[in-house]
Amino acid sequence: MLRARGFRNLAPLAFEPGPHFNVIHGDNGAGKSNLLEAIHYLGALKSFRGAKRDDLIGLDSDTALLDATISGGAAPHKLRVELGRSERRRLQLDQKRPRSSSIWHQTVQMVLFHPGDLMLAVGGPDRRRAFLDRMLEQIDPIYGSTLATYEKALRSRNRLLKEPSAERRSVRAYDAILSKAGAVVGKARARLIDDLEPRVTRAFAEVFGGDTPLGVRYLPRVEPTEEAITQALESSFEKDCARGFTADGPHGDDLELRLHDVGARHHGSQGQHRTIVLALKTAELDLLTERTGRVPILLLDDVSSELDRSRNRRFFEVLSHAGGQVFLTTTHPEFILLENDRVDFQVDDGCVTR
Ligand SMILES: Nc1ncnc2c1ncn2[C@@H]1O[C@H](COP(=O)(O)OP(=O)(O)OP(=O)(O)O)[C@@H](O)[C@H]1O
Ligand SMILES: [Mg+2]
Repeated sequence: MLRARGFRNLAPLAFEPGPHFNVIHGDNGAGKSNLLEAIHYLGALKSFRGAKRDDLIGLDSDTALLDATISGGAAPHKLRVELGRSERRRLQLDQKRPRSSSIWHQTVQMVLFHPGDLMLAVGGPDRRRAFLDRMLEQIDPIYGSTLATYEKALRSRNRLLKEPSAERRSVRAYDAILSKAGAVVGKARARLIDDLEPRVTRAFAEVFGGDTPLGVRYLPRVEPTEEAITQALESSFEKDCARGFTADGPHGDDLELRLHDVGARHHGSQGQHRTIVLALKTAELDLLTERTGRVPILLLDDVSSELDRSRNRRFFEVLSHAGGQVFLTTTHPEFILLENDRVDFQVDDGCVTR
């Protein structure tokens, strides 16, 4: 059950979704993505559209309130978020203030697809690194802090490289920490991609059809070992000084995606790009289920456009096998080719009705 009050354009809401597929339809601007954003906010504690707190609060309200009961784990949990225009955000987990944000994030896991995620297929490597890093943070409790250590050292080194008067010794003082943390980050990404690769290629083949093979590979800037990173930092030191930033290290890694052995970014069609991203998300769902023992909630914003009828059908077949609770929005419910386990909701001007 989700209750919302004062969130975006949503009318006061008591939303009781079905256990499996929830199809949310309505016209453009009705509030479908707002509803999905409310659900996602309860898991991620941030807007997937990058909106600030003020933008989330309804224009006629001073506060927004989200309240949900999540079942499916060992015991149900109650989540409550209150957003005010001037006060701090107030969080409650099972009627108490949560001790840390990681406890919150462990309580509810979600996998999200929204139109901006198409950048995973067509954007730069930073998008794909972020995709890997967010997943690693969910399955490995210390990955986030190791990555933060690496990024902090990298920022400090780059700041010094931009200062003409900086001592070389001070710049190089960061190399040891960059090599050590960088090797941990790179190895974790390499292992994750090994685990993801068969799942992504299978999901892509199942939806798109088998005669267009997708290749998925870790493309590190430097081999992820302490020795290799140390060496790369040493040998490119003069160049780093000249360009004013550190070129080599896992901050240059990529998750390479190839179709017919050509880079998918500049080569794929729109439908292929969308299918690649959906395959990445399906693989993420599968892996998180295996690692956490729970199927994450799947949120799909405007998922079906650009996929033809048969690929749409196959995508929903793949999802049916995943189990789990799914929320998906569409302007065209007839494109959602699901017959079973489906509850439909209509959104009109912020009002959600079953
Ligand atoms: N803070 C806010 N207060 C009130 N209304 C808001 C707020 N933020 C956005 N809106 C309104 O919400 C509507 C957009 O809702 P949403 O993005 O959920 O639409 P949608 O149903 O997903 O449409 P589409 O099919 O075009 O994606 C717009 O009409 C916008 O003006
Ligand atoms: Mg929308």
